Amino acid sequence: MEAKEAARKGPSRTEREDFRATSDPALQEPADRGRVKLLDYPELYRLWERQQWATQDLDFSQDRVDWHERIDEEERYQRLYGLSSFFIGEQKVADELGPMMRAAPQETQRIFLATQIADEARHVQFFDRFFSEVGVLEGADELSQRLERLEQHLNPAFGQLFDDLLKTRVDRLGQEPGDTRALIEAVTLYHMVIEGMLALTGQHFIIDYNEREGTLPGFVEGFSNVARDEHRHIAFGVRFLTDAVAEDDANRDVIQGMLEQALPVADGVLDPPWADDDTWELFGVSRDETHAFAATCLSRRLKVIGLV
Ligand SMILES: [Fe+2]
Ligand SMILES: [Fe+2]
Repeated sequence: MEAKEAARKGPSRTEREDFRATSDPALQEPADRGRVKLLDYPELYRLWERQQWATQDLDFSQDRVDWHERIDEEERYQRLYGLSSFFIGEQKVADELGPMMRAAPQETQRIFLATQIADEARHVQFFDRFFSEVGVLEGADELSQRLERLEQHLNPAFGQLFDDLLKTRVDRLGQEPGDTRALIEAVTLYHMVIEGMLALTGQHFIIDYNEREGTLPGFVEGFSNVARDEHRHIAFGVRFLTDAVAEDDANRDVIQGMLEQALPVADGVLDPPWADDDTWELFGVSRDETHAFAATCLSRRLKVIGLV
């Protein structure tokens, strides 16, 4: 992988100044020693103001040609696993964030989470525009029809993570916004596991693959913006959990317990539904490489929070 990275021209995406500006520990090597200066909530909000983008500005005309004329049927099917997981995942996280925002105890935290709700809505729109402009699903002309059709491409672990583990905590927060434990568990699941391990791992390999193949330029441009947003969201999560542990050491066990429950499920989400053993390759990358990337990102963030 390193050789392939080095072979590419210019700095890699994650070395870009605007990506590093988020202070996400996964992008910073000193995080291996637990030393990273995290942004505070008002700084994260101001960064959001500076990092705006519009799905309407993206041009998918070449993507349409690539999808129908350059990518064969089998590859289209495999790519649909990643695309479906992201599209439905974005819709689910956009829906679940409201109660979490309301439950956050500080005004500056709620202000940042309000920006994140807007981001997640934009991410749903990004996928919806891609599917519609490229003509990925024939006969599904509306957002709700597209989401329904894509459900079949997901694996059972996906449902368990979003509809069982996350939704239980968010529903609890809807009824009892003062439940600190449920909020810490929800942030651990949402920002550390779903965004930090799963979304960013998928984004990293999918963007790299398209860049190497020279396919889907509009998608690559938009998805890179989505990835930058996710780093900012994760930076919020790391800050929130770091503050929670500093406030009460017992919160360490709450985060740890949630991770122990969620990590086996998250591992399952990374495995595509058609894989019957551990030797699969997707987007030119092996299962082991995919899982190792996700694990490194998580461990850097946990070191900064003070968990390992
Ligand atoms: Fe998102
Ligand atoms: Fe996000």
